[in-house]
This record gives sequence, structure tokens and C-alpha cells, in this order.
Amino acid sequence: MEELSKEYTAGVFNRKRFKVLDGVSFSVKPGETLGLVGESGSGKSTVARTMLGLIPPSSGRVLYQDQEVLSPKGRMKKEFCGKMQIIFQHPESALNPRMKICESLLEPMIIQKKDLTRKEMKSRRWELLQQVGLSEEHLNRYPHELSGGQIQRVVLARILSLSPQFLVADEPTSMLDVSVQAQVLRMLKQIQAENGIGLLFISHDIEVVNWMSDRIAVMYKGQIVESAPAEELCQNPFHPYSRLLVESFSSLKQYSAKRDWVENNYTGEAGGCHYYSHCPQAGPDCRQRPVLKETGAEHYIACWLT
Ligand SMILES: Nc1ncnc2c1ncn2[C@@H]1O[C@H](COP(=O)(O)OP(=O)(O)OP(=O)(O)O)[C@@H](O)[C@H]1O
Ligand SMILES: [Mg+2]
Repeated sequence: MEELSKEYTAGVFNRKRFKVLDGVSFSVKPGETLGLVGESGSGKSTVARTMLGLIPPSSGRVLYQDQEVLSPKGRMKKEFCGKMQIIFQHPESALNPRMKICESLLEPMIIQKKDLTRKEMKSRRWELLQQVGLSEEHLNRYPHELSGGQIQRVVLARILSLSPQFLVADEPTSMLDVSVQAQVLRMLKQIQAENGIGLLFISHDIEVVNWMSDRIAVMYKGQIVESAPAEELCQNPFHPYSRLLVESFSSLKQYSAKRDWVENNYTGEAGGCHYYSHCPQAGPDCRQRPVLKETGAEHYIACWLT
């Protein structure tokens, strides 16, 4: 996606515009996982939703193999609907509570894969069920009769039934408890690799992102401030905000102290680097907006200190 921006207007009398995304660009190769990490409110879900045409961007383009994905109104064009899919944080909202799992699993195929016969759909459903680690006994249940982890598996099976080439997973396991999280993530990673799916994996947890991803992009207040291969970013983070994130998972206490400092010192400087008023190393140059520059193999940093 290229230079994607999103503005919202707020206020009833004094309509103020504020930018939630500010010129966000990145690409995901087939079979690759790009992790998108950043604090709450940095715009990660907005990236996911605008990419898939669920909310229209204010400007910018989304390309799938050099083809424009969004219509002029910002909706996803029909031909991409099966190819690009999303898994949300609240999986239960993706399932109809009144539909049995067996019906829920057939529904997307009935709508999108009209060339398949019922018999073919049912045998595909059986394959998918095994792929996501569910058994036949789950088919006759309703969503409320399954656990959160099982629901997320059903949602994944529904998505896989459309053979997507590109998948966005927006904090897919943050509602699950830790042991189930690991199982679901392991399964997602395996399915992604086996099917050569390009994955945009969104989380605020850099440790999880590091485990899932080939490359990581760090987002801060609507901008990508650094991107690099996962290992490189975790070992040599350069941008002061990336460093804060990486340090955070080696020492959580230190992080919360620093985080409080950051929040208390934020003055919302407009125009320049969004991290300006937090950054212990900020200089006069930082009042100008930095652009992403390549400083090493596939390592991009938006910081005047490079
Ligand atoms: N419809 C809307 N109208 C106005 N502001 C919005 C709207 N949707 C999102 N925002 C704002 O946009 C910003 C980014 O939100 P977004 O949901 O993308 O963050 P996020 O990085 O996904 O956070 P989290 O980690 O909590 O999921 C937030 O400040 C949010 O309040
Ligand atoms: Mg979000």
C-alpha cells in the first residue's frame, strides 16, 4: 500500500480534522509475514480496515500485484474479495450466532465459490476442519457452545475456504488466554507457510510479532517509524520508539516507568516528528518530519538521528 492517509473530523461546532494515518506505505510479498506493531491508538486497525476497503482512505492507494484494490469510493473491488481477507480480535462477531458451525463453514463457499458442487464443498469443509484442528463433533454446535480458541479456529477455516492469498490478522488472539493464544498462533503460522499466504500480522506485543514475522514495521501515531527484518529490528532497533518497545519486553517495569514519562511529557507537536516531544535525543532538525530512509539491508528508519 502506498502513502495511505486517513483523517477524521471531530467536534460538532468547531470541526477539527485529525490525522489517524499519515502517509503509511509498506508491502507484503507472497508467503511473507509482516508484523505491524505499535501502541494502542497508533492506527494499526485503521491500516487493516482501510486496506480491505472497510473504511475509505482519505488519500493513497492499495495495490495487489500492481492492480488497484479499492474503487474510487474506497470499497474493495469484487475481484479481490476472496483473495484478501481479515481476522479480527473479536472472532465471535464474524459468526452468525443462529447458524450451526456446519452451515457457517459452507456459507462463504456458497457465496463466493459458485463453481463448486455441494459435495465438493462438504469435502472441502472436512479438509478445513482437520487443518484447523477441529473434529466432526463441533459441526453440529452453535457458536456459543464453543470456546474462544475453537471459535477463532472456525473463523480461520471459513477464511481458508476462500483460498486467500493475503490475510490481515488484527490482534487475532488478544482475547484468548495465554496457552490457547500460543496454539492458535502456531496454527496460523503453519497454515500461512503451507499455503504461501502473505500475512499482515498486527499486535502491540513485540515478542509475539517477532515470533510470527519475517519483517517488522513499527508504527507510532499514524506513521511507520522503522521497518526491518524481524531479527535485525529486535537486535538493532534504531528509532528511539522502537528501542523503547524492544527494551520493554526484556524489562517490563522499566518500560512502564518510561511509558509514564512519555505520556506526561507529550505536548502533541504538530508538523515535525511525532515522537519529538518524547524523544530524549530530539534536536532542532526533529521539528521537520523525517522520511523513511534505507540505512541497511531492508532496514528503513524515519529519524533525523540516522
Ligand atoms: N470512526 C472513528 N472516528 C474517529 N476516530 C477514530 C475512529 N476510528 C478510530 N479512530 C481513532 O483513530 C486512532 C487509531 O485507532 P486504531 O483503532 O487504528 O488504533 P490501534 O493501533 O488499532 O489501537 P489498538 O491497539 O488499541 O487496537 C485512535 O486514536 C482512535 O480513537
Ligand atoms: Mg486495533
